[in-house]
Amino acid sequence: MLNQVEELASKALDELAKVTNVNELEAWRIRYLGRKGNLTQILRSLATVSLDKRREVGARANELKNSLDTAFNEKKAELESGSILISGRETLDVTLPGQQISLGRLHPTTQILEEICDIFVSMGFQVVEGPEVEWDYYNFEALNMPADHPARDMFATLWVDFKDKTGDRPMLLRTHTSPVQIRVMEKTPPPIRIIAPGRVYRYEATDATHEWMFYQIEGLAVDKNITLADLKGTLFEFARRLFGEDRKCRFRCDYFPFVEPGVEVAIDCLVCRGAGCRLCGNSGWIEILGAGMVHPEVLRRLGIDPQIYSGFAFGMGVERIPILRYGIDDIRLFYSNDLRFLKQF
Ligand code: PHE
Repeated sequence: MLNQVEELASKALDELAKVTNVNELEAWRIRYLGRKGNLTQILRSLATVSLDKRREVGARANELKNSLDTAFNEKKAELESGSILISGRETLDVTLPGQQISLGRLHPTTQILEEICDIFVSMGFQVVEGPEVEWDYYNFEALNMPADHPARDMFATLWVDFKDKTGDRPMLLRTHTSPVQIRVMEKTPPPIRIIAPGRVYRYEATDATHEWMFYQIEGLAVDKNITLADLKGTLFEFARRLFGEDRKCRFRCDYFPFVEPGVEVAIDCLVCRGAGCRLCGNSGWIEILGAGMVHPEVLRRLGIDPQIYSGFAFGMGVERIPILRYGIDDIRLFYSNDLRFLKQF
């Protein structure tokens, strides 16, 4: 009988070593330590043996029971530290490495668009949008660029192969956000204060500084007594809020058919602060946008009397700003969906 007890002990411990989850462990407990378990059976059958034998076997059987209890508790603790029992059947190993959840983020262009819009909204401008597929009329004609106007060459245009019923309304992908000026003035009597962010398209061979699609933000204010000083004040304030309080700004003459006078706005170079370096082409200045007073002819054609009203307009490239701010050396990175680039913002 003592043999039987010893054998049982080593068998039980062998089996326990092979237990890998809490379900198996429970089965093992029932098999050896349960009310009808093997060990319990032996202890019960002790009643039939002689007193001496009973003492000897009983002592050993008790020892064995204690050591199995201990082994059981240890195994249980070991299993429970690494796994949780789900719904009594499945176990979940909480020590396994989890699946990495990668958080999404806003595209750098969206981030800068929001930043720019916030600045102008705080100055009282409203955000509006216009179509990306546009009529020649809005993109050129109404902006003082009739069919034969040489300034059309400034905009390498992607034409859309579509004719409307009249057959003579050419369609294109807008080359700038300025057509939104026309759409707004057509519908809204002054006072007007809007900004219009959106995509624009150019027929370009792409390289580090050219994309065939990029973003612009247009601005337009029309009211009584709007002057060039208002434009200057608005844009200088904008540049300081975006690039820092101590930013220097420069206004210079430029030409756009739909404004008179036209200006180009530059800030002192972010790298050399005016001394001259590679980024600014040794000029010390970096051009950030085009602007001007809305051409009286543009107003008149839309039924806004230029004797009573005047306005200013500006348009800027959006990607240029993070390019300058972070020293990005290729505009194509913005739209090539490379996560190594996008994750940095
Ligand atoms: N639309 C012009 C461009 O794309 C920029 C501009 C907007 C200039 C408004 C003057 C006034 O180059």
